Amino acid sequence: MPVAEDFQAPVRERRLRLVRDGWGTGAAAHEHRLLRAARPALPVLNWLGQFANPLMRVPKLGWITADPLTARALLNDAEHLTLLSEGGVGHLWAQILGDWVYDLFDGPGHHDLRTRSRELFTERTSAAFVQRAWGDRLEAARASFEAGEPLDLADLSRVLVGRMVMTLLGMPVAPGDESTGEDPDDPYREIFATGEELAATALGTTADTMLPPAKVESARAIVERLTGHIDQVFPTAHPDTVIGRCRELGLTLRETKGLSTLLMVAGTETAASAMARTAALLHDSGEQHRLLTAPEHRDDAVREALRVTSPAPIIGRSVMADFTMAGRTLRAGERVVVLTWTANNLPGGFRIDRPYLPQNRQLWFGAGRHLCLGGPLARAELGAIVDLLLGDGRPFRVVSRRYGRKVLIPAYAELVVQKQP
Ligand code: HEM
Repeated sequence: MPVAEDFQAPVRERRLRLVRDGWGTGAAAHEHRLLRAARPALPVLNWLGQFANPLMRVPKLGWITADPLTARALLNDAEHLTLLSEGGVGHLWAQILGDWVYDLFDGPGHHDLRTRSRELFTERTSAAFVQRAWGDRLEAARASFEAGEPLDLADLSRVLVGRMVMTLLGMPVAPGDESTGEDPDDPYREIFATGEELAATALGTTADTMLPPAKVESARAIVERLTGHIDQVFPTAHPDTVIGRCRELGLTLRETKGLSTLLMVAGTETAASAMARTAALLHDSGEQHRLLTAPEHRDDAVREALRVTSPAPIIGRSVMADFTMAGRTLRAGERVVVLTWTANNLPGGFRIDRPYLPQNRQLWFGAGRHLCLGGPLARAELGAIVDLLLGDGRPFRVVSRRYGRKVLIPAYAELVVQKQP
């Protein structure tokens, strides 16, 4: 079927395809199993989303949509929807970080922060961050991978993301001492795990975002571990770090610490998830072979991988005031759940030559005022992973894999790849 017609395929046919995709051993089947392992309700919700035409009310959950245009309209509606009220992620953070979150995360302070941090991750700065944070480690991985050694890309992704966090935030790092048997990657794995721990605070809070005091206390301790050093480094941090750049862009110390926490939460698990899943998709779909013969599609492959994996599979909001959308009246206090994974997967499977889909645009990064701030960085990171995997012009195989269980962001726990002999 020509790609342009693909999205226009009759709704029933597309629904059946999504159900069929859950079987077998192809790329889509692995993606379905990965989602199910992370959160068993996810595939059910995704499947249900196809009937939300374009909006459907689900008891105990709220309004769901998997229609890209409706999703974008909702995410752009800051007048009626917020992420700050009870039931939203902002409410969660306010208990941990303080009431100033209400201003900085969604209030007037947010607009100001976003305006000033617009230039934080451009294509140029992102490429430079990747080089600085990953350069030598990526080279070492490449050398052994190309020599035929097996590579656990899920583990490497967590290490690389840990390195990125440390570089961005200018954290002091003591690399593991090899002479005492320590793995030099361990401190980075630990940083990743700390970010994961912080994000896990949000697990199980879809319906109720009131945190028990013990959870608030442990989350505050994690935030302090990750951002405590910023008090000292803020006045002098190099402009190449996010802290230095924030200072130069005129952000206050508190804004910088708030933004750093956001980066940790929003940009660690999502990025690591996308990296290993991109490798799996390239292999499972067979598209790696087409990419090897048509390397000009590298950036398209990155875009397709982001679309098909959609590592943030749902985005939640709360209704602040009654309003009407697509003929439905949404009432104050109700919840809205945008099913990004379903919306992005309805057009079809991973294809490196799939043309740009204007209706989906980059919905995997959200839309509107909270559109992902790290999009260019995520793309640069994925580009580097594609180069690592296929840069020598030879295909690879997946030796073994394990899906992450009960995790907030669906991801591989292990994905061992190896060059084909
Ligand atoms: C594949 C990787 C990534 C995906 C799929 C992704 C996805 C998203 C999505 C969907 C949102 C919007 C959430 C909402 O509307 O509630 C978001 C926000 C955000 N992302 Fe990303 N993200 C990724 C990587 C990153 C990276 C690498 C960074 C930076 C280090 C980052 C920083 C942020 C920040 C700061 C926000 C909050 C923006 C705001 O509230 O104004 N993200 N991301």
